[in-house]
Amino acid sequence: MKDMMDLVCATANLGKYAEIAAILEGVAEVRPRPDAVGEIEESAGNFVGNARLKATAVASATGLPALGDDSGLEVDVLHGAPGVDSAIFGGLQRSDDDNRKHLLAVMEGQTNRRARFRTVLVVAWPDGREIIAEGVCEGFISNLEIGERGFGYDSVFIPELTPGILKDARQHRTFAEMTMAEKNLISHRSKALGKLLEMLRDEP
Ligand code: IMP
Repeated sequence: MKDMMDLVCATANLGKYAEIAAILEGVAEVRPRPDAVGEIEESAGNFVGNARLKATAVASATGLPALGDDSGLEVDVLHGAPGVDSAIFGGLQRSDDDNRKHLLAVMEGQTNRRARFRTVLVVAWPDGREIIAEGVCEGFISNLEIGERGFGYDSVFIPELTPGILKDARQHRTFAEMTMAEKNLISHRSKALGKLLEMLRDEP
């Protein structure tokens, strides 16, 4: 990646867009998804396929390279659910509040609370080239909602921290109790973006 590349972000989720733009600041010129791009159906049934659907739709609509992403929460005692269905876990209305409440309800009384966030990113170019990167953040589902920041499941997810990785030494905080800068040091999304940047550096 020689100069700052233009990258259109395919996500319609403002929380995700803010994190991606902050992580890529100074590296890529990240543009929000244009309003003219309509709803993109996430029908592939897996993270890579959904991320690719979003990236290719936006790349062909704009004529620019586009970054598509798909992410979700995988809970061990739920055999990896909600996974690719994380956005509709609490119902088809896609409410973050309903999703969190449903998760805490199905986890009531469970002692094994191990879970992880997974993000898959696809950059698609209008000429059909693509690169794919994945990032995972291990952690646990909390017993109740804690914290005011972030979006989605942030207030019910406690990331497992490598000691010393954050200046704040408190080990058991949800993502919603962290600043965006703290979350961006350890999150699934930032790990996937880190790998993606390595690959973009090798692009002609
Ligand atoms: P999608 O990738 O937009 O389909 O997101 C799937 C679901 O996971 C949505 O309900 C998001 O709010 C949620 N989600 C994705 N990434 C995060 C995150 O970093 N924190 C909290 N929730 C997330």
